[in-house]
Amino acid sequence: MKCANSPLESLLPFRARLVLCLTILCLVGAAEAASRLKPMMKTWKSQAEAANAMLSPRGAYDEAKMRAILTGYVSDADELRRRATGTSTAARDFRARLDTFDADASALLASVGQRDQVRAPIGALLAQCKSCHDVHAK
Ligand code: HEC
Repeated sequence: MKCANSPLESLLPFRARLVLCLTILCLVGAAEAASRLKPMMKTWKSQAEAANAMLSPRGAYDEAKMRAILTGYVSDADELRRRATGTSTAARDFRARLDTFDADASALLASVGQRDQVRAPIGALLAQCKSCHDVHAK
């Protein structure tokens, strides 16, 4: 971005131009993060449905598929957390929720081989979807 050569150069002192540049970069960054969130959430939803289907009484449990779902959650949550760089209370809460989600999904990977040991913790993991939405997705 070349703010310094913009027509504003002659009008604004250097510090004001710097602040303007940073503000624009921040807005672009926030929009970028938001644009990644929605498609990611759509994937999370279909993954959650696939996980629930596998664990339903007639569902065919597939360890590799469950592992792939959880691994995807871990890496997506990492990415979202890195992008959510705000310092507001809301941003900190958002990151804390992603930390918990990430840690719980990671921990579940250890028992992914035993269907019966996955059911309860995955229920708790997926309950975090709703509790985050209640606060952050309006
Ligand atoms: C740390 C917070 C957080 C967690 C955890 C979370 N979400 Fe979301 N989710 C959001 C936010 C914020 C939005 C709103 C995005 C927007 O409207 O830009 C959202 C939106 C959505 C949407 C709507 C997307 C759209 O196209 O409008 C779906 C579906 C969704 N989440 C599914 C899930 C599922 C499934 C999980 C759990 C596996 C989950 N989310 C976990 C924060 C979270």
